Amino acid sequence: MNIPSHGKYQWLPLLYNFINQLKPKKVIELGPATGHTTITMAQSLKDNIGNTPPIYAGHINSYDIWDDQYWGTQENCQKEINEWGVQEFVTLKHLDFYEWLKTEEEFDFLYFDIDNDGDKLLKLYERTKSQIEKGSVVVFEGGSEERDKYVKEGLTKMNEVKDIVGYQVLSENVKYSVSGIWNEQIYAKVYEQHIPESGR
Ligand SMILES: C[S@@+](CC[C@H](N)C(=O)[O-])C[C@H]1O[C@@H](n2cnc3c(N)ncnc32)[C@H](O)[C@@H]1O
Repeated sequence: MNIPSHGKYQWLPLLYNFINQLKPKKVIELGPATGHTTITMAQSLKDNIGNTPPIYAGHINSYDIWDDQYWGTQENCQKEINEWGVQEFVTLKHLDFYEWLKTEEEFDFLYFDIDNDGDKLLKLYERTKSQIEKGSVVVFEGGSEERDKYVKEGLTKMNEVKDIVGYQVLSENVKYSVSGIWNEQIYAKVYEQHIPESGR
Protein backbone atom coordinates (compact mmCIF):
# COMPACT_ATOMS: atom_id res chain seq x y z
CA MET A 1 0.00 0.00 0.00
CA ASN A 2 1.71 3.18 -1.23
CA ILE A 3 -0.03 6.12 0.49
CA PRO A 4 1.07 9.48 1.95
CA SER A 5 2.39 9.70 5.48
CA HIS A 6 0.01 11.99 7.31
CA GLY A 7 1.60 12.39 10.72
CA LYS A 8 -1.76 12.79 12.45
CA TYR A 9 -4.25 10.45 10.76
CA GLN A 10 -2.78 7.05 11.63
CA TRP A 11 -5.89 5.46 10.14
CA LEU A 12 -5.24 6.35 6.48
CA PRO A 13 -4.76 2.61 5.69
CA LEU A 14 -8.34 2.09 6.88
CA LEU A 15 -9.56 4.69 4.37
CA TYR A 16 -7.55 2.95 1.65
CA ASN A 17 -9.10 -0.40 2.61
CA PHE A 18 -12.65 0.95 2.53
CA ILE A 19 -12.16 1.99 -1.09
CA ASN A 20 -10.36 -1.23 -1.88
CA GLN A 21 -13.15 -3.40 -0.48
CA LEU A 22 -16.26 -1.45 -1.42
CA LYS A 23 -14.99 -0.49 -4.89
CA PRO A 24 -17.14 2.64 -5.12
CA LYS A 25 -17.53 4.20 -8.56
CA LYS A 26 -18.63 7.59 -7.35
CA VAL A 27 -16.65 9.03 -4.43
CA ILE A 28 -17.22 12.46 -2.88
CA GLU A 29 -14.82 14.16 -0.53
CA LEU A 30 -15.53 17.29 1.48
CA GLY A 31 -12.33 18.87 2.84
CA PRO A 32 -9.28 17.59 0.94
CA ALA A 33 -7.09 20.50 2.18
CA THR A 34 -3.56 19.56 1.07
CA GLY A 35 -4.78 16.25 -0.38
CA HIS A 36 -3.51 13.49 1.93
CA THR A 37 -6.89 11.79 2.28
CA THR A 38 -7.67 12.45 -1.40
CA ILE A 39 -4.45 10.82 -2.57
CA THR A 40 -5.02 7.85 -0.25
CA MET A 41 -8.43 7.17 -1.80
CA ALA A 42 -7.21 7.87 -5.35
CA GLN A 43 -4.28 5.50 -4.91
CA SER A 44 -6.71 2.79 -3.81
CA LEU A 45 -8.91 3.41 -6.87
CA LYS A 46 -5.81 3.22 -9.05
CA ASP A 47 -4.62 -0.02 -7.44
CA ASN A 48 -8.05 -1.54 -8.00
CA ILE A 49 -8.03 -1.06 -11.77
CA GLY A 50 -7.91 -4.31 -13.60
CA ASN A 51 -8.35 -6.41 -10.47
CA THR A 52 -12.06 -6.75 -10.94
CA PRO A 53 -13.68 -7.81 -14.18
CA PRO A 54 -15.16 -5.89 -15.89
CA ILE A 55 -12.52 -3.20 -15.55
CA TYR A 56 -13.46 -1.04 -12.62
CA ALA A 57 -12.68 2.67 -12.36
CA GLY A 58 -13.94 4.99 -9.69
CA HIS A 59 -13.63 8.76 -9.50
CA ILE A 60 -13.47 11.30 -6.66
CA ASN A 61 -15.15 14.70 -6.77
CA SER A 62 -13.42 16.61 -4.01
CA TYR A 63 -14.63 19.94 -2.63
CA ASP A 64 -13.04 22.55 -0.41
CA ILE A 65 -13.10 26.31 0.10
CA TRP A 66 -9.35 26.54 0.82
CA ASP A 67 -9.92 29.72 2.84
CA ASP A 68 -7.42 28.85 5.56
CA GLN A 69 -3.75 29.57 4.87
CA TYR A 70 -2.75 26.59 7.00
CA TRP A 71 -4.41 24.19 4.55
CA GLY A 72 -2.94 25.81 1.44
CA THR A 73 -4.56 26.39 -1.92
CA GLN A 74 -6.43 24.39 -4.54
CA GLU A 75 -3.37 24.76 -6.81
CA ASN A 76 -1.12 23.25 -4.17
CA CYS A 77 -3.53 20.37 -3.58
CA GLN A 78 -3.65 19.69 -7.35
CA LYS A 79 0.15 19.75 -7.47
CA GLU A 80 0.36 17.07 -4.76
CA ILE A 81 -2.18 14.93 -6.59
CA ASN A 82 -0.21 15.28 -9.84
CA GLU A 83 3.03 14.35 -8.09
CA TRP A 84 1.42 11.10 -6.94
CA GLY A 85 0.24 10.43 -10.51
CA VAL A 86 -3.40 9.98 -9.52
CA GLN A 87 -4.85 13.07 -11.25
CA GLU A 88 -7.10 11.06 -13.57
CA PHE A 89 -9.02 9.81 -10.51
CA VAL A 90 -9.71 13.21 -8.93
CA THR A 91 -11.62 16.38 -9.83
CA LEU A 92 -11.01 19.22 -7.39
CA LYS A 93 -13.56 22.00 -7.14
CA HIS A 94 -13.98 25.12 -5.02
CA LEU A 95 -17.34 24.50 -3.33
CA ASP A 96 -18.68 25.23 0.13
CA PHE A 97 -20.20 22.31 2.05
CA TYR A 98 -23.36 24.35 2.68
CA GLU A 99 -23.73 24.83 -1.09
CA TRP A 100 -23.08 21.15 -1.71
CA LEU A 101 -25.91 20.33 0.70
CA LYS A 102 -28.32 22.00 -1.76
CA THR A 103 -27.22 19.73 -4.62
CA GLU A 104 -28.57 16.28 -5.33
CA GLU A 105 -25.19 14.77 -6.14
CA GLU A 106 -25.22 11.05 -5.44
CA PHE A 107 -22.31 8.89 -4.29
CA ASP A 108 -21.28 5.38 -3.35
CA PHE A 109 -18.71 6.52 -0.79
CA LEU A 110 -18.27 9.92 0.90
CA TYR A 111 -15.40 11.13 3.07
CA PHE A 112 -16.15 14.18 5.29
CA ASP A 113 -13.42 16.31 6.88
CA ILE A 114 -14.25 20.03 7.24
CA ASP A 115 -13.24 20.79 10.85
CA ASN A 116 -16.11 18.58 11.89
CA ASP A 117 -18.55 19.18 14.73
CA GLY A 118 -21.95 17.82 15.69
CA ASP A 119 -23.99 20.37 13.72
CA LYS A 120 -22.07 19.82 10.49
CA LEU A 121 -22.35 16.07 10.97
CA LEU A 122 -26.09 16.29 11.50
CA LYS A 123 -26.53 18.41 8.36
CA LEU A 124 -24.48 15.91 6.38
CA TYR A 125 -26.55 13.05 7.75
CA GLU A 126 -29.89 14.68 6.91
CA ARG A 127 -28.68 15.22 3.33
CA THR A 128 -27.26 11.70 2.89
CA LYS A 129 -29.40 9.33 4.99
CA SER A 130 -31.64 8.18 2.14
CA GLN A 131 -28.55 7.15 0.18
CA ILE A 132 -26.98 5.47 3.21
CA GLU A 133 -30.16 3.42 3.58
CA LYS A 134 -29.71 2.24 -0.03
CA GLY A 135 -26.09 1.21 0.56
CA SER A 136 -23.84 4.28 0.26
CA VAL A 137 -21.16 4.58 2.95
CA VAL A 138 -19.99 7.72 4.79
CA VAL A 139 -16.67 7.94 6.64
CA PHE A 140 -15.72 11.06 8.58
CA GLU A 141 -12.85 12.48 10.61
CA GLY A 142 -13.51 12.40 14.37
CA GLY A 143 -16.39 10.92 16.31
CA SER A 144 -14.45 9.82 19.40
CA GLU A 145 -14.98 11.23 22.90
CA GLU A 146 -11.35 12.38 22.89
CA ARG A 147 -11.80 14.25 19.58
CA ASP A 148 -14.85 16.07 20.96
CA LYS A 149 -12.62 17.78 23.53
CA TYR A 150 -11.24 19.77 20.58
CA VAL A 151 -14.60 20.90 19.19
CA LYS A 152 -14.69 24.67 19.70
CA GLU A 153 -16.57 25.87 22.76
CA GLY A 154 -20.22 26.62 22.04
CA LEU A 155 -20.40 24.20 19.10
CA THR A 156 -22.19 20.85 19.25
CA LYS A 157 -20.01 17.85 19.93
CA MET A 158 -20.18 14.87 17.58
CA ASN A 159 -21.14 12.50 20.41
CA GLU A 160 -24.19 14.66 21.10
CA VAL A 161 -25.64 13.58 17.74
CA LYS A 162 -24.21 10.04 17.77
CA ASP A 163 -27.54 8.32 18.47
CA ILE A 164 -29.39 10.27 15.78
CA VAL A 165 -26.71 9.67 13.17
CA GLY A 166 -25.94 6.12 14.31
CA TYR A 167 -22.22 6.27 13.61
CA GLN A 168 -19.53 3.83 14.66
CA VAL A 169 -16.09 4.92 15.83
CA LEU A 170 -13.57 2.93 13.78
CA SER A 171 -10.38 3.91 15.58
CA GLU A 172 -9.25 3.94 19.19
CA ASN A 173 -10.51 6.74 21.44
CA VAL A 174 -7.85 9.23 20.34
CA LYS A 175 -7.99 12.83 19.08
CA TYR A 176 -7.27 11.91 15.46
CA SER A 177 -10.08 9.40 15.17
CA VAL A 178 -12.30 8.23 12.33
CA SER A 179 -15.90 7.05 12.19
CA GLY A 180 -18.38 5.67 9.71
CA ILE A 181 -22.08 5.46 8.91
CA TRP A 182 -23.61 2.67 6.84
CA ASN A 183 -26.63 0.43 6.58
CA GLU A 184 -25.80 -2.43 8.94
CA GLN A 185 -28.17 -4.81 7.17
CA ILE A 186 -26.18 -4.40 3.97
CA TYR A 187 -22.72 -4.14 5.48
CA ALA A 188 -22.58 -6.44 8.47
CA LYS A 189 -19.04 -7.36 7.46
CA VAL A 190 -17.74 -3.78 7.51
CA TYR A 191 -18.51 -3.72 11.21
CA GLU A 192 -16.59 -6.92 11.88
CA GLN A 193 -13.60 -5.92 9.77
CA HIS A 194 -13.06 -2.36 10.95
CA ILE A 195 -14.09 -2.10 14.57
CA PRO A 196 -11.69 -3.48 17.16
CA GLU A 197 -13.42 -6.18 19.23
CA SER A 198 -12.85 -4.09 22.37
CA GLY A 199 -14.99 -1.32 20.90
CA ARG A 200 -18.02 -3.44 19.91
C1 LIG B 1 -8.87 19.37 8.71
S1 LIG B 1 -8.75 19.97 7.07
C2 LIG B 1 -8.87 18.53 6.09
C3 LIG B 1 -7.67 17.61 6.22
C4 LIG B 1 -7.42 16.73 5.02
N1 LIG B 1 -8.54 15.88 4.66
C5 LIG B 1 -6.15 15.93 5.16
O1 LIG B 1 -6.00 14.92 4.43
O2 LIG B 1 -5.26 16.31 5.94
C6 LIG B 1 -10.29 20.78 6.88
C7 LIG B 1 -10.53 21.36 5.49
O3 LIG B 1 -11.93 21.68 5.40
C8 LIG B 1 -12.07 22.87 4.65
N2 LIG B 1 -13.37 23.46 4.98
C9 LIG B 1 -13.75 24.04 6.16
N3 LIG B 1 -15.03 24.46 6.09
C10 LIG B 1 -15.49 24.13 4.85
C11 LIG B 1 -16.75 24.28 4.19
N4 LIG B 1 -17.79 24.90 4.78
N5 LIG B 1 -16.87 23.81 2.92
C12 LIG B 1 -15.82 23.19 2.31
N6 LIG B 1 -14.60 23.02 2.88
C13 LIG B 1 -14.44 23.48 4.15
C14 LIG B 1 -10.88 23.72 5.05
O4 LIG B 1 -10.62 24.67 4.04
C15 LIG B 1 -9.77 22.66 5.16
O5 LIG B 1 -9.08 22.53 3.95
